[in-house]
Amino acid sequence: MPEFILTETRGETLLITINRPDVLNALNAQTMSELEEALRSVKDDSNVGGVIITGAGPKSFVAGADIKELAQQDPVGAKEFSVKSQEILHFLEHFPKPIIAAINGFCLGGGCELAMACHMRVASESARFGQPEVNLGIMPGNGGTQRLPRLVGKGVALELILTGNMIDAREAHRIGLANKVFLPDELLAGAEAILNTIYEKGPVAVKLCIEAVNHGLELTLDEAIQLEANLFGLCFSTEDMKEGTAAFVEKRKARFTGR
Ligand code: COA
Repeated sequence: MPEFILTETRGETLLITINRPDVLNALNAQTMSELEEALRSVKDDSNVGGVIITGAGPKSFVAGADIKELAQQDPVGAKEFSVKSQEILHFLEHFPKPIIAAINGFCLGGGCELAMACHMRVASESARFGQPEVNLGIMPGNGGTQRLPRLVGKGVALELILTGNMIDAREAHRIGLANKVFLPDELLAGAEAILNTIYEKGPVAVKLCIEAVNHGLELTLDEAIQLEANLFGLCFSTEDMKEGTAAFVEKRKARFTGR
């Protein structure tokens, strides 16, 4: 049984709650491993179409890496922690089913890095975002220096990373860090509504879209559009493609099987 996360199945959605409210859901190594294990256990489960990650309590999504654990690290241990966490966030980013971070409060440091590895971020009006590592004399180590500029552009990313300043949910939305902002009580329903829309689509196509966007951004444009053409072609080998196009022609709702 995991100690620091809660899992709950809501229809086709797995809800994962980071559950260390006494420390504002700070991420220690065990929490990261439990998160990875929870995702691995549903990766090939056809009953689970997507995942929401949120934080326990009203105050925080995740207030960063666990500073007490970090304070004990030597250079080799800190690098190992960074590499291991980055592997887990890479697994999350490349997960074949949509993952939404439902950000219910502080979303700082490693919390913001976790949220940025998710496919989308929705925020409660009370959410606060930031990369405050410089306040501790360290730098982001879970992909923050790379995913933040890719999401919001280099200048805004450097401003956030170098000042350590926090921004509110509206500003996060304005710069493209948060996809949508909801009232606190409507946050989970808002995330579920996005996933429920995706569940109506062809699951293989959804998976290939995630792959095209993730891998394509790491390639040159010429290589990336070639990748897109290859994955587009692959769609035409699926039953979902036959069903989706037939349903359109027959003016009925498609019944996708994910094959
Ligand atoms: N790691 C470990 N413990 C943390 C933590 C973290 N990242 N963030 C908060 N906590 C703990 C606090 O130490 C405190 O524990 P205590 O009750 O035993 O003293 C508890 O969570 C509540 O935090 P507190 O600071 O009292 O709440 P606040 O509302 O006054 O401030 C924050 C909230 C988020 C502004 C503040 O906790 C903070 O700056 N946290 C660190 C954020 C950070 O630097 N993250 C990047 C880490 S690399």
